[in-house]
Amino acid sequence: MRRFLVAGNWKMNTNRASGEALAGALAAAAPSPEDGVEVLVCPPFPYLACIGDKVSGSAVAVGAQDVYFEPEGAFTGEVAVNMLKDVGCQFVLIGHSERRHVLGETDEIINKKVKAGIAGGLQVVLCVGELLSDREAGQTESVLDTQMAGALADISAEDAKDLVIAYEPVWAIGTGVTASPEQAESAHEYLRKWIANRYDSSFSEQIRILYGGSVKADNAEVLMGQTNVDGALVGGASLKPELFIPIIDAARKLASA
Ligand code: 13P
Repeated sequence: MRRFLVAGNWKMNTNRASGEALAGALAAAAPSPEDGVEVLVCPPFPYLACIGDKVSGSAVAVGAQDVYFEPEGAFTGEVAVNMLKDVGCQFVLIGHSERRHVLGETDEIINKKVKAGIAGGLQVVLCVGELLSDREAGQTESVLDTQMAGALADISAEDAKDLVIAYEPVWAIGTGVTASPEQAESAHEYLRKWIANRYDSSFSEQIRILYGGSVKADNAEVLMGQTNVDGALVGGASLKPELFIPIIDAARKLASA
């Protein structure tokens, strides 16, 4: 049975005080491990350590929103895997659509980052998803093929055992337009089959595939209730406890059903 993962990507939002207040509220409300739901928050780099302190001892894990693939050296502005681990990160998001489409990250760079994250012992959340123009052109599956093959090049099933995939259609991110449960399930089912073909079917049954893109309290349960949807990667609605906790509760309800 795959455990739900409900993750908040804070993006370039919050400050120290608001982030600590949010993390404190989530730590107090987080499910116990027996509830079958994991909770993750991904604050901006400068706040990873203080948010880690705030959630320490609770069921909330901390992840970074990106990482660089080199272990150290003259890479001004970049942050290495070991630095993230040093401040208590367990997870890292890689290949988020804003990194791909705003910051120009390629599948080749994403592959290097995935390899570095795995080699360093972080749980990688690999983000994939098509643009609206891709979907309208009937290219959703071929875009997913390219992104998955690129990101996972030369990565074995053993290396990928803790990998999490996040399907985030770009047209649904921050737009208020959510994929319908059927659209989400169809993409997730496709991704799970892709993983079964590339690796094997028992591995593909274990891997968690999160949905991201305008997830809110009122659509979380139906989205996460789809067979191949194992949680959510939430942007805007992860920034307020009163918006995010109901999404965690929806996963908790589904896990106990
Ligand atoms: P929104 O929930 O704000 O649409 O953002 C989704 C996202 O990009 C999470 O990584």
